[in-house]
This record gives sequence, C-alpha cells and structure tokens, in this order.
Amino acid sequence: MAQPLLTLDFLDKAAPTAEATPSGDVRVTAATRTGRQRKLYIESYGCQMNFSDSEIVTSILFDEGFDTTDDLANADLVLLNTCSIREKAEQTVRMRLKQINSHKKRKPGMLVGVLGCMAERLKSKFLEEEKIVDLVVGPDAYRDLPGLISQVDGGQKGVNVLLSREETYADITPVRLNSNGVMAFISIMRGCDNMCSFCVVPFTRGRERSRDAHSIIQEASALVAAGYREVTLLGQNVDSYKWASADGLEHVNFAQLLERVALISPELRVRFSTSHPKDITDEVLHTMARHHNICKYIHLPAQSGNSRVLALMNRTYDRPWYEERVRAIRRILGEDCAISTDMIAGFCSETEEEHQDSLSLLDLVQYDMAYNFFYSERPGTLAARKLEDDIPLETKKRRLQEIIDLQQLHARARYARMVGRVHQVLVEGPSKRSAEHLSGRNDQNQVVIFPKGNARKGDYVNVLATSTTGAALLGEMV
Ligand code: SAH
Ligand code: SF4
Ligand code: F3S
Repeated sequence: MAQPLLTLDFLDKAAPTAEATPSGDVRVTAATRTGRQRKLYIESYGCQMNFSDSEIVTSILFDEGFDTTDDLANADLVLLNTCSIREKAEQTVRMRLKQINSHKKRKPGMLVGVLGCMAERLKSKFLEEEKIVDLVVGPDAYRDLPGLISQVDGGQKGVNVLLSREETYADITPVRLNSNGVMAFISIMRGCDNMCSFCVVPFTRGRERSRDAHSIIQEASALVAAGYREVTLLGQNVDSYKWASADGLEHVNFAQLLERVALISPELRVRFSTSHPKDITDEVLHTMARHHNICKYIHLPAQSGNSRVLALMNRTYDRPWYEERVRAIRRILGEDCAISTDMIAGFCSETEEEHQDSLSLLDLVQYDMAYNFFYSERPGTLAARKLEDDIPLETKKRRLQEIIDLQQLHARARYARMVGRVHQVLVEGPSKRSAEHLSGRNDQNQVVIFPKGNARKGDYVNVLATSTTGAALLGEMV
C-alpha cells in the first residue's frame, strides 16, 4: 500500500469505504491542464477525510489560478496533507520532506506546505524542525491558504492552525481529481467530541460540527447529475450527525440525512463511515433496511474485545453493549450485512487474556474486514498522560499478527459464503489483473471480478459468483 495511488489505481483493493485507510497509503492528486501558470502538487496521507480535504484545498487553489500536476519536479507549490494517527504516519511524512528537499534544491522557487493533522499537532514547531517548510496550515484554516501563500511569496513563512467550531467548507465544491467518476466521498461533519484515550483526532481536528443538510443533498444531487453512482458520507462518528436550520425549525439526525440522500435517486448507492458503537441507533438500521440503495455494510470499530481495556480506552461502551449492537444489526439487516472493525493490539496494560477477548470477539462477529494496528502512543492524548505504554513492541506485534491471521480466515469465510449467489455489482473499471475483466463491488463492499462483456464503468450488472480468491469474488455476468 505504500506506493502512490493515481486516479484509478485503488480499484481492485477491498478498501475501506472511508476512514480507516491505513496510514502509509498515500494519494497523489492527478494532473489537470487548464493552462494556468502555477503548478500545485498535492499528496495526501491518512484517512479518507484527509483525501476529501485535499479536494477542497484544490478547489480553493483553482480559484487562485493554480493548476495541479502529478510531477513533483514540475511543481511550484508542494503540499503534503498529513496524518498523525500513529507515529509511523508522521515518520513517513518526515521522510518525504527529506526527498522533497532534494527537489527544492534543484528548483529553489518551490514552496513547500504542510497541511492536515500533523500541521495542527506541531503548529509552528514544524518550521523549526523542518527547515524546508514554508507553510503550516491546519484542517480548519484552508480558506486562508491564498493569503498565506502571498505571505510566503513576500518572503515570510505562513502559519494558520486555528481550529473552528463552525467551519464545514459547506459552500466549497470539491475538485474530484482522484475520482473514477463513479464513486465520491462527501464530508458531512468535521472534528470529534469523543475522547478515546489513545486518539489524537480530537486534538488535530477540533470539536465536532455537522454540515448543513441542504448543502450535503445539493452536493450528492450534483454528483448524480454528473453520472456518479455511489457516495460515501464521511465523518469520524456519523451517528452523532445533528444539524438544525438557523431558524430552529428543521432538525436532521443521521438516519434522516441518510434517508434523504437515498431518496435522491434509486440509482445512487449510499455508503457511510464511521459508525461509533455507542451511537449507532436502531433508527439508522431500520433506515438501511427500508432503502435498497443504502449499502448493507457497517464499519463499526470495536478497538478491543475486553471491557476493562475498552474502559481504559474511554470508548464508553463495554463488550456486552457492542455484542448487543451486532445482534441488532443481524436482527434488522440479516446475516448478509457486512460488518468491519478496527482493532488495536497491545494497548496499555492489556493482558494476554484480554488480548484473547479481542480474538474471541472476531470469532463471534465474523467480520468481513478489519483494519488492525498495534498501539502507538500519541503525545498529548489521555493515554499518554495517564497510562503507561508498557506492552513490549514484540508482544504488540505478535498480538497484532494473531488478530490479522484470525481475521483473514473470517474474511475468506465471508467471501466463500457468497459464492453461488448473484450479486448486484457497480462496475468501477478495468480489473488490475487483466484488461479483459472488470472490477466492481457488491452491496457488502466485496470486490467482484468478471469478464467484461458489454458492461462499462458506472453500470450496475448482475454477477453470479463462481469462486473466490479469499479477497475477491470471481464470476460471470448473468
Ligand atoms: N473515528 C473512528 C476512528 C478514526 S482513527 C472511530 O472512532 O472508530 C482510525 C483507527 O486508527 C481507529 O479506529 C483506531 O483503531 C486506530 N488508531 C487510532 N489511534 C491509534 C493509536 N494511537 N495507535 C494505534 N491505532 C490507533
Ligand atoms: Fe478518535 Fe475516538 Fe473520535 Fe474515533 S471516536 S476519532 S477513535 S476520539
Ligand atoms: Fe485522519 Fe490521520 Fe487526521 S486518520 S483525522 S488524517 S490523524
């Protein structure tokens, strides 16, 4: 996953619908040629929300007369949209800055800016630590980019890391440069008000705020009109989406928003991420059940299968609560609804038995997919201040590997049970393996590959799954 992703490159991967995109994944914005003079090169790290923000940044800079390039050597402005979620994510960016430094030596006029979570976490300290950086801009300050760039053009450094309680960039139409023209992501909220003890996000993204429901519907409708067939509604905790009109007459919660988006067109698939186990309601599950075009896939990160560890993590639910939410999903949406999770191995003071509880949760839920990490202490978080990071690295890695190995069996089994059935697949484009095959996904977000016939990108086709690789279904159109 470490190589740059260009426009259609991610197609065959069973990628998360949104934010658990493992850091280390990096996406380079594709080139556009509008004949403008200044070239912007932007690389995005971390979660889907960051990738979405890069589309907003590009939109703001388009209005300032920038063009995008995918050739770093050719860039006048290089922006790295960064992630702080784990230490490794930050190391990756620092290494990248060193490489960019050698380009800058060859092209001294090149400006280098750091955006996103690392910018927010380190603030102006970045300018001292990494001398080549000219600009440091936090996630809520992107409207200030044009002003900051002129400041840098004038010979100064530019820094704005102010967090906002209101900014949602609701009025900015993202420039969808890395899209395949079929699927798009829509940010419905920003920030996070939870305080999971391991997590840096509340510090880097600020307070939770929900975007104007009308602007979300408008954006989704415009995507449908432009031929898009799938939208993913994004937020750190979508279930706590809550918007009220200025006159206080209209209130929209997440279930209602989901329904409104689903009603835009029966041809539009709707996905969302991330659901927090403490907040996901039966109302959301019933809304999913009522609308065939809301995909039956829920990313419901557990983090641990042990109640004591969950309490230390400040997740505000325990194992019985999580199990009950899974039963509700099965009751309302059936066995076919896909469920995925994020797991952290080796959190502070986790015992061997408690780690076994995480494994037993995997067995119980039978996840379709899991994004697994070993614990990485982040400065300033509750855990860093109050708990000792006392699990040796080898133990963390061993526990992580056990989680990964077990989960792989379950993912295979979830794929295997889909063989012999007909799936509605939204075609995303050519398969990476062969030009004669197309790749798409079923409702459950499983990858489906089949001979291309007359189908085209953006079509819905019915595919009979005849076998599985364990990470994709292979089949034929029927
Ligand atoms: N809002 C989402 C998570 C966003 S961060 C949620 O509440 O589930 C994505 C994932 O990164 C988390 O679910 C968690 O599993 C992992 N993560 C976050 N902080 C981490 C840390 N300090 N060490 C290891 N993994 C971490
Ligand atoms: Fe981090 Fe928890 Fe918020 Fe998710 S819900 S972003 S893990 S603080
Ligand atoms: Fe996302 Fe990484 Fe920030 S996961 S919110 S870019 S810390």
